This record gives sequence, C-alpha cells and structure tokens, in this order.
Amino acid sequence: MAGDVSIDPWSSSQSTDYNRIIEQFGLEMVDYSVLPNPHMLHRRGIVFAHRDLNLILDAHSSGNPFGVLTGLMPSGRMHLGHKMVIDQVKWFQEQGADVSIAVADLEAHATRGLSLDECRRVALEEYVANYAALGLDVENTSVYFQSTRPVVQRLGFTLGKRTNLSEFEAIYGFKGETNLAHVQAPLVQAGDILHPQLDEYGGLRPIVVPVGVDQDPHLRLTRGLASKTNWFNVKASKSGGLVIGLSVQDENSQALGVGADGKIDKSLRQSVFDKLSAILSGIGFSDIRSNPKHGSIEIPAATSRDRDLIRPELLKLERSMGGLGLLQPSSTYHQFAIGMTGDKMSSSRPETTIFLTEDVQVMEKKVKSSFSGGQPTLEEHRRLGGNPDVDVAFQYLRYFFEDDDKALAEVESGYRSGEILTGQMKQICIDKASEYLNHLGEMRQQTAHIVDDFLAADARL
Ligand code: TRP
Repeated sequence: MAGDVSIDPWSSSQSTDYNRIIEQFGLEMVDYSVLPNPHMLHRRGIVFAHRDLNLILDAHSSGNPFGVLTGLMPSGRMHLGHKMVIDQVKWFQEQGADVSIAVADLEAHATRGLSLDECRRVALEEYVANYAALGLDVENTSVYFQSTRPVVQRLGFTLGKRTNLSEFEAIYGFKGETNLAHVQAPLVQAGDILHPQLDEYGGLRPIVVPVGVDQDPHLRLTRGLASKTNWFNVKASKSGGLVIGLSVQDENSQALGVGADGKIDKSLRQSVFDKLSAILSGIGFSDIRSNPKHGSIEIPAATSRDRDLIRPELLKLERSMGGLGLLQPSSTYHQFAIGMTGDKMSSSRPETTIFLTEDVQVMEKKVKSSFSGGQPTLEEHRRLGGNPDVDVAFQYLRYFFEDDDKALAEVESGYRSGEILTGQMKQICIDKASEYLNHLGEMRQQTAHIVDDFLAADARL
C-alpha cells in the first residue's frame, strides 16, 4: 500500500508516526487509567500501545500467574534506552510478574561477530550489574543465555517449519542477499518469547514482552508462529458467538481422529469433542453445537471476552494430548526518546545517548551540547518561548529523570512561556541526571555481590 510505514528492527532510522503504526499493525492504545499503579511511562503516554495486555491485567486482577520477558543484545554499553525497558520490566515485576531475561548471545555472535565469552562478559558487567542496581528483585528474575538453553534453540528451529521466506520478506523486507543470520535470529527470538510457557519454565500463563516499536515485527512473527501450532482455534462465528475449529496438521492428525487413509475415526473424533464439550460446560455454556465430522463447535452465546477464558483451556487440552499448547505473547510498545543529537539513540554513537555508567562530567558535556528547542536569541526566547517537544534536556527529564509529574509540568510550561531559558533547562536536566547517575553508581556497588544470583542454573559456568 502506498505510504505504508515499514518497521525494520535492524535499521538505524525509525518511524515516529505512532498513530500510523497503531493503525497499520493493529496495535491497541494503552489506557493507563485501567492499569494498577501506573508508572510515569504510562502516565506520560510513552508506553502507548499493546497487544493482548488484557490477558496480563486479567491474570493480575484474578491472582493468576503471569510473566514478563525481555532480551538484551550483549554488544555495547547499557544506555538510557535500555533502562526504559527495565523500568517496565520492574513495574510488571512489582505487579506480580515473574521475570525472564534472554541474553541474545547467539544473535550477537551471528550478527555482530562477538565471541560467546565476550557476550557473557558484556552481559554481566554492563547489563545484569545495572539490572541489580536498578532494583530488579533477584528472587524473581532469571537471566539465561540463548547459547546454553537448548530448548530455546529447539523451539526456534521447529517453529521455522511454520513460516517461509515469503513471510520473512513480507515482515522484514528480506531479499535474496539477506544474510541467513537475520533469518535465524528472529526464530531464536521466537523461542525466547514462547519458552517460558513450557511446563519446565513455569507452565502455561500469559507472558508480556515490553519493547520499542522497532521490535514489533518479531512479535508479529512470534504470534503467528504460536497460533499456527495451535490444535484448536477460537474465532468469531459468522452466525454470531464463537466457533472452535480443529486445526488438523501432520503432527496431530492421529490424535484428532484422522486416520492414515484420511478417513475420520468417528469414535476417536467423538472423544475429542466430548473433552471440548466438557471444557465449555465447565466454563458455563449450555448451548453447545458440536459438529465432529466437520471439526467445529459453535457457541452462539459466547462473546469475544469469553475467548480469553476458552483459549487457555483449549491449550491445556492440547498439551494433555501431546501438543505444545502455546499462547500468543502479549506485548507493550514504547515511544523512543530522541537521541541527544536530535536523531536516533544508539550505543555505537556515544554522543547520542547517556550510558548508565557514564562519568558525570561526560554526561554534563553531552547535555550542554544536546539538541535544544530554544530560540536562537535570548530576546526571541523570552518572547516566543521554547519548544519542549524537541528539546533533549526536557525530553530526558520526561523519559528518565523527573518522576514527579507536577514538577515536570512546571518545567514544561515555564519553557513554553519563555520564562525558563535553554541554559537553565539544561542545568535542571544535568542536576537531575547527576543525582540519578550518582545514586545508580552507589547502588551498583551495593548490589555487586548479587549479580551472579540473577543467573539461571543453566547460565552458570
Ligand atoms: N533482538 C533483540 C535486540 O536486538 C534482543 C532480544 C533477543 C529480545 N531475544 C529477545 C528482545 C526477546 C525481546 C524479547 O535488542
């Protein structure tokens, strides 16, 4: 379609047309008023969209387990953009989520040429050390390496069967010359995202992945892969209500009552339908219209909300019959803070961001020379006011350093009115950032002794 936005997780440029992204990729807007204890990133509209977040919120409000997963590329220094993801992970953890963190060492090895040993060192020294300092709860956080968790690789490998090069071309824009590491990495990442639901890793429960919009292609891929493995689908029925359909595949045809000759084994098929009916009446439906021969069940009274109740039960049944029973992951999307120079933040260009281990004086220099929304002269600034929307110092207060909404609103209106000058705005940012970096440095020292405790058993040497 003409004028479509495309999202490329490997690109150095990014679309910031967030409304278009929501519309084009079918994301839903986050309504922070329904969130328990909304974080400043929610209150400020920075975490702006989601897929299936309601599964997480429902689990939270009914006291059922849920998890959060993220991954890190162990190939550079941890900066403010990475911190924002961990802020969200921590928030989910505080609401009761268990936390899994993938060190994407296979991805970094394949796409950036780092040795696995180097990846390990970077992951621990740069990332996990800061996670500890940022206050992730060590009791409830499990960091693992892609390279030492075979089930993640196996899942990625077997899921590969559910997609093809055309889909990769459509999702990622791959061409004939695309390196195959870029085909493998998203499959392993799908393994990362889906494996916490496996019985050995906590069992069936909703898992949310907080990401920047650049990672949405991976989520679209993963959601598609998960649903393609499902043995039972629940859809809106044309005649109203919901309909459950069997998805007969090579792996499950026997279990679903299809014989080697393609003929339906009636009694086996009936026993599957008896189980489905038992599930539905257990949930409370009485009008259940089974059509075993056709492989479908109509539930005329079911609403789209009921789908969330029915689906996990079908996944459990699938597991009991030998299937994977994978639930599509939930996800949330955050907007990106502008880089300090006015374009994208990137660890390979230190002038565009602040590292969590940044020296305060270096930070000060970066803020002083950062892109500003002030007017060229003092006179004009007083008269016309500054533009906080593009002002790095203000935006960094908003995204990272000022958690008090009232204080932030005052600085914003003072800048807009011209009362606060560019130099003053930068100084406010510098003061807050210094406080932040100093505190974080102290926390790093205090938590240095627990860094290794964040590692899962299969991540220890
Ligand atoms: N590909 C991600 C990145 O480039 C890293 C990653 C690996 C990841 N596995 C993940 C992110 C799972 C989120 C979820 O940063």
